[in-house]
Amino acid sequence: MTFDMYREIILDHYKNPRNFGKIKNANAQANKKNPLCGDEMTMDIKLSKAGKIEDIKFHGAGCSVSRAGGSILTEAIKGMSLAQMKKYTDKDFLKEMQAPITPARRKCALLALETVRAALKIKMK
Ligand code: FES
Repeated sequence: MTFDMYREIILDHYKNPRNFGKIKNANAQANKKNPLCGDEMTMDIKLSKAGKIEDIKFHGAGCSVSRAGGSILTEAIKGMSLAQMKKYTDKDFLKEMQAPITPARRKCALLALETVRAALKIKMK
């Protein structure tokens, strides 16, 4: 893929974010801020009794990369179990984004994943 194609993926998710919104009966939720810019994101998650992510939505105000990150992440992890999420690394997610994220934008991209981990009370080693 060319750099422009990568950029288009981010742009598409930014303009038409998947899973953008709220879940009324969410049973896991968190809000996180990117300390570098003040942008924030909230994740609403509906976990099944067996600990599977049945539904997930995000909302908040952020830059194109953070918003695309929320969109791509929620698509990627819907249906995953808590056990799978505990093994889902930053690297896995950045790979999922299929875009060359500069070090300066890493925090933007990872805001979604950090918010999901906070909602699920997952601490990565
Ligand atoms: Fe704030 Fe990207 S500039 S999350």
